Amino acid sequence: MKINVGVIAASGYAGGEAVRLLSYHPHVNLNYITSRKLITKYFHTIYPNLRNLSNLKFEEFNVKVAKEKCDFVFLAVPHRVSQEMVPELIDAGLKIIDLSADFRLKDVSTYKKYYKKEHTHPEILEKAVYGIPELHREQIKTAQLIAVAGCQASSAIYGLYPLISEGLIETNNIIVDSKTGSSGSGASFNEASHHPIRANSIRPYKMTGHRHTAEIEQELTNLNGGKQVKVGFSAHGVNLTRGILSTCHVFYNQNNTIEEKDLFRAYRKYFKDEPFLRLITQKSGIFRLPDPKLIIGTNFADVGFQIDGNMNRIVVLCALDNLIKGTAGNAVQCLNIMNGFPETEGLDFPGIFPL
Ligand SMILES: NC(=O)c1ccc[n+]([C@@H]2O[C@H](COP(=O)([O-])OP(=O)(O)OC[C@H]3O[C@@H](n4cnc5c(N)ncnc54)[C@H](OP(=O)(O)O)[C@@H]3O)[C@@H](O)[C@H]2O)c1
Repeated sequence: MKINVGVIAASGYAGGEAVRLLSYHPHVNLNYITSRKLITKYFHTIYPNLRNLSNLKFEEFNVKVAKEKCDFVFLAVPHRVSQEMVPELIDAGLKIIDLSADFRLKDVSTYKKYYKKEHTHPEILEKAVYGIPELHREQIKTAQLIAVAGCQASSAIYGLYPLISEGLIETNNIIVDSKTGSSGSGASFNEASHHPIRANSIRPYKMTGHRHTAEIEQELTNLNGGKQVKVGFSAHGVNLTRGILSTCHVFYNQNNTIEEKDLFRAYRKYFKDEPFLRLITQKSGIFRLPDPKLIIGTNFADVGFQIDGNMNRIVVLCALDNLIKGTAGNAVQCLNIMNGFPETEGLDFPGIFPL
């Protein structure tokens, strides 16, 4: 069986990556890709990696056409735009996998605090399921609207959710220091993304108040039985095109001792049946901790840790590809769950090494 799928705003990096993945999915007939500025142009004119491999042409977005051609749409527009498009897609009876931030947060006041505007369709927030497959599998199965998690938020959540779920760490002083590649800010450019500014730099761009803080806190608080988890999140742009490495500093209770074996047990409990979460346990060699180099182009999130007994600290690292496990790959994994396909369908490939 094949399902009909469309990608709205396939011209952008997140939509473009969704097109690449969906084009090779054995159960997907990708038959509708849209753009405002590239109508009638072939996809491969802007994504030449699919030269000779794709005959898809960009079309103008029209909800009636989407309804005729598709069962599912991936929505890869900027936030605020998504908010205006989702209601008509829902009314058309389509299932929507939204890559934007618009339907991730359940609480409208938190949305306003971080996005500085009122949400225009708060009544839909209830319908949306947060798109982290490993945490919301059951709800994803029957959802009409998936709000795929933010890329940097995903990396923090994957690193931390076993420790929170097992009650192993303090929950009021979690620090996440995230480094991200330039594709994380999309295909459009500005002064800050200009090569002489962006290159050869570790650019601190959002030390406090980063929007992904809200998603991380929302998800970890749920896992903490509703008791508020506090996260300090800081983000840096680094000299990579793709990839994220989040370094999380968390603390365990002064009265406890924690040994490596306790943490291995906790991570194994949650990761053992997860096809895309890899715990790095290697004790020697140069890749003893997660490194974006190894997961670029894949749907894997690699997680590792070290214990700093000197100050009751655990340093947890998570590396993932912002455009795959941080966006389009998780979206395809959700699509698989919604259709009862094996979760790895269309995503089952390793990275390239050396890169
Ligand atoms: N990049 C990442 O790593 C990443 C990770 C996680 C989530 N996301 C999310 O995915 C979404 C897309 O991000 P991106 O990185 O792909 O951005 P992008 O490269 O800038 O692409 C966004 C696309 O949206 C279309 N668009 C822009 N304004 C529009 C409007 N007013 N109406 C309709 N279409 C409009 C544009 O296509 P046309 O001009 O051709 O119509 C553009 O190509 C965002 O919500 C972003 O937050 C991105």
